[in-house]
Amino acid sequence: MDATYLDFCPKLRKMMESGKSLDLSGNVVQIGGISTLNNIRIIRELILRGRPSRTLEIGLAFGGSALAFLATLKEVSVDGFHHSAIDPFQSKGWGGSAVRAISDCGFSGNFTLHEDYSSLVLPEICRSNEQFDIIYIDGSHVFEDAFIDFYYALRVLRLGGIMLFDDCCDPHVCKVIKFIRTNYGQILNEIDYRVLENPHKSLKKRVGNLLGVRQLCGFTKKGEPPRDWNVPFVNF
Ligand SMILES: C[S@@+](CC[C@H](N)C(=O)[O-])C[C@H]1O[C@@H](n2cnc3c(N)ncnc32)[C@H](O)[C@@H]1O
Repeated sequence: MDATYLDFCPKLRKMMESGKSLDLSGNVVQIGGISTLNNIRIIRELILRGRPSRTLEIGLAFGGSALAFLATLKEVSVDGFHHSAIDPFQSKGWGGSAVRAISDCGFSGNFTLHEDYSSLVLPEICRSNEQFDIIYIDGSHVFEDAFIDFYYALRVLRLGGIMLFDDCCDPHVCKVIKFIRTNYGQILNEIDYRVLENPHKSLKKRVGNLLGVRQLCGFTKKGEPPRDWNVPFVNF
């Protein structure tokens, strides 16, 4: 897959191809840590298929995935769309570059940034009863943060909605996913990888995937937490 796939959002294509963006003061910044082209493809495909209108991501950085969400939501939108992001470091660490890119694309009115730690923002969203159709977890990859993201994301995800984890082979994130696989089968269904597969991927990637090497995994919500107080614990 090449960058022409990103023609649905020329700004995102330019960012991915040049490896550069602008911060809010107009300085050129080098891009790093942006979601992979394949993650962006999966996010886009899920939106095109499911036609959601409200999405959330934890971890905004330069706004790569946010632009993919917003540009694709716009395509499928009937009654309006909104994307929210949580990131404590957008101003301090990233110079507001995602906010600028989103504004340059004309999406400011469809976007909310919560500039604080997800562990503090998600409980507030939970109390407000706001619900999302897709949640992309790509913030702090430290186990305890990723676990808290999972815990609250499940509570603000609508029934039938999708929860995605980036870097699911990272040992911290992988541990959270193992917990979900072993203990949350009643509430979350893992999405079949074949549904998310890129038909044009290389042989090396195919072999890697067969060996369990993956960047992204996803779950569909089929039940509501909390679980019963005496639910058996499955070791993992
Ligand atoms: C891998 S980057 C996100 C990349 C982004 N999704 C994209 O595709 O361009 C991880 C982001 O998580 C943010 N982050 C780190 N700790 C966080 C926390 N506790 N809560 C929310 N975001 C956090 C970082 O500031 C960084 O922007």
